[in-house]
Amino acid sequence: MIAPQDHQDPQDHQTHAKLGRRQLSHRYDGLAKVTGRAKYAAEFPVENIAYAYVVQATIPSGTIASIDQAAATRAAGVHSIITPFNAPKLTVPGNVNILQDTNVFFSGQPIAVVVARSLPEAEQAAKLLRIEYKAQPAKLDFNAVLKDARAPKRGGGDSHRGDPQASLAKATVVIDQTYSTPIQNHNPMEPHATVASWEGDKLNVYDATQGISGAQSSLARAFSIPPANVHVQCPFTGGGFGSKGYVWSHTILAAMAAKVAQRPVKLVLGRNQMFGPVGSRPNTSQHIKLAASSDGKLLLQQHDSTCYTSLISDWIESAAGATALLYDSESLTTSHSLVDLNLGMGTWMRAPGEATGSVGLEIALDELAEKLNIDPIQLRLINYAEKDPRQGLPWSSKHLRECYTQAADRFGWSKRTAQTGQHREGNKLIGYGMATANYGAGRRPSSAIVRILPNGRVFVGVGTQDLGTGTYTILAQTAADTLFLDPALVDVKLGDSTLPPSGGSGGSTTAASVCPGVYDAAVKAKLKLVQLAIADTQSPLHGAAEEDVQTKDGKLFLKSNPQRSETFTTLLGRNGDTPVEAIATSELAKDRDTFSSHSWGAIFAEVAVDADTHMVQVCRMVGTYDIGTLINQTTGINQLVGGVVWGVSMALHEETLIDPTFGRTVNENFADYHVPVNADIHQIDVTALDIPDYKFNPLGSRGIGEIGITGAAAAIANAIYNATGKRVRDLPITLDKIMNA
Ligand code: MOS
Repeated sequence: MIAPQDHQDPQDHQTHAKLGRRQLSHRYDGLAKVTGRAKYAAEFPVENIAYAYVVQATIPSGTIASIDQAAATRAAGVHSIITPFNAPKLTVPGNVNILQDTNVFFSGQPIAVVVARSLPEAEQAAKLLRIEYKAQPAKLDFNAVLKDARAPKRGGGDSHRGDPQASLAKATVVIDQTYSTPIQNHNPMEPHATVASWEGDKLNVYDATQGISGAQSSLARAFSIPPANVHVQCPFTGGGFGSKGYVWSHTILAAMAAKVAQRPVKLVLGRNQMFGPVGSRPNTSQHIKLAASSDGKLLLQQHDSTCYTSLISDWIESAAGATALLYDSESLTTSHSLVDLNLGMGTWMRAPGEATGSVGLEIALDELAEKLNIDPIQLRLINYAEKDPRQGLPWSSKHLRECYTQAADRFGWSKRTAQTGQHREGNKLIGYGMATANYGAGRRPSSAIVRILPNGRVFVGVGTQDLGTGTYTILAQTAADTLFLDPALVDVKLGDSTLPPSGGSGGSTTAASVCPGVYDAAVKAKLKLVQLAIADTQSPLHGAAEEDVQTKDGKLFLKSNPQRSETFTTLLGRNGDTPVEAIATSELAKDRDTFSSHSWGAIFAEVAVDADTHMVQVCRMVGTYDIGTLINQTTGINQLVGGVVWGVSMALHEETLIDPTFGRTVNENFADYHVPVNADIHQIDVTALDIPDYKFNPLGSRGIGEIGITGAAAAIANAIYNATGKRVRDLPITLDKIMNA
């Protein structure tokens, strides 16, 4: 990465300072999506395709004793049936769920694949399989085995500071409570899907994914072929929210099925198959102890979180992770423990850790504020972390104070009554609540190619994918900003493993990683173009100094004499009519160990609770976020609003229910797994401060995908308490829980 101050071209410094100036007010991919031209993984036409159906275990624990496939094999249209008894051997570490052995670790685990001429025929044949199990007792009740919680095998990233006992002894007020959040499932609109075909030992895959590079390397490893032999394409991802970040078994099974059936195979998971085999947000049980002096200063924060984990991986929902850095306190301990259950794997789900952890911590702070008789915002300001409390490093940029002030003003927080149950409108109890939002800022090295074409257009290619968040849009903008041209002249290609590699779309790292990569490549391509002009005796710019040549609206010109200019098209036309192109990789900041980067926000909620039925309506949510530069108003604010909607969902609706005997997800459909509908969502007013964080990256922009959900559920829980005086510490907050609190 060329840091702005190091680069010779003063325009580039301006580019940074004003990045986002050439905003696309519409989504780059909007037209393609609304007209149906945008193709998702399962929509690519492949000749001679067969359909695969994944058969799932119906017991939660044990082994498969036998599978009689005689009747299924004879069924109409069946090409192949793959089971643990006949599946090709693959080289996948921890080879789970890909038919390498007969173990069953959870109900719903993939145990066979039927390949047939059509999907109904595959499903029909699957029903004819005679599967015998040797069942073992299963662990399914989290609370029953909570006492057996264990430390994660590879450590839980726990934190300690100060002397907890001494701090506790000094305290005048203590909160000591347990908060819990349920299992959740992501359910993006596009289900998981893979289309796989082989040509010799070359594999072509269309995969619904948040990481084409991860899919490529996992498939290469599984089938012992070089990564270059695996071509993964995913031009559009229909949402992921973390669920498509991991390479699940169906991707590998689709490729296996194509090999066995010797024809291209399409494998699309049904909506019910999205609950379990492709990861869940684990539940959490969070024990929190906060101890403070009477002036509100936190002396001790203790946050111990336990979540379930499957028997096939140690996945931690790191709910206590952010507690170590959010507020100052002389002492702190955080820990994570796991309870082994016969359920599918845990995985990333929007703001993994922070979404759940902020529920516990931010409700606990509300309880502490009440006990201390201090305003909840004031309590947070008293304990404001001026530096990262973990290593004492300065923040690269932190404007959380402004978030509290601005959002509180817009919300009208001053009208809140601290005493509960005071504000009544007819039959509705009105309550106000707030919480802090936060999410880490991460970046990865990212490569890109930028090509300036003789026709005046610019091509940008990056081996990442747009999971629906606006990656196409902001990359068109970045190239346009760097070259000083109209973003409508930029063509972006994503979602193809033959393009320069970049990171996955996850962890709120995409914008912060891929934009600098495209910026670097665009700067390099521009320099090549400038050098071409300077060397060309027929160019009006011949012999000029590099740093004197600038670009604007498809023209090169001299800063010292703007009359001397020519268009990209004329220059390239005279020089073989070929494009000028450059590939670059943006690297991480060299001084990144000298500061800490994080995003912040303040989120406020107003609820109306029916005094008789206890039905909750979230009337208003108001949030202000400090996420560095807001690269694009439309797609950025969209992400924040989406996150806040997820917060409403988390607070009031979502919960995956497991049958305690058979281990099946009971509500594996959208009728029974509740998410908010339009009628549940009222006013959502979010803004971003848009203060660049240039220490973090040259564009000043931290991630935006996850922070919206954080704090939102706690703000609603706190508002419900303010309205009713009922403190519910177990999510989702359903009306029966309010009634019984
Ligand atoms: Mo995100 S949970 O890293 O897609």
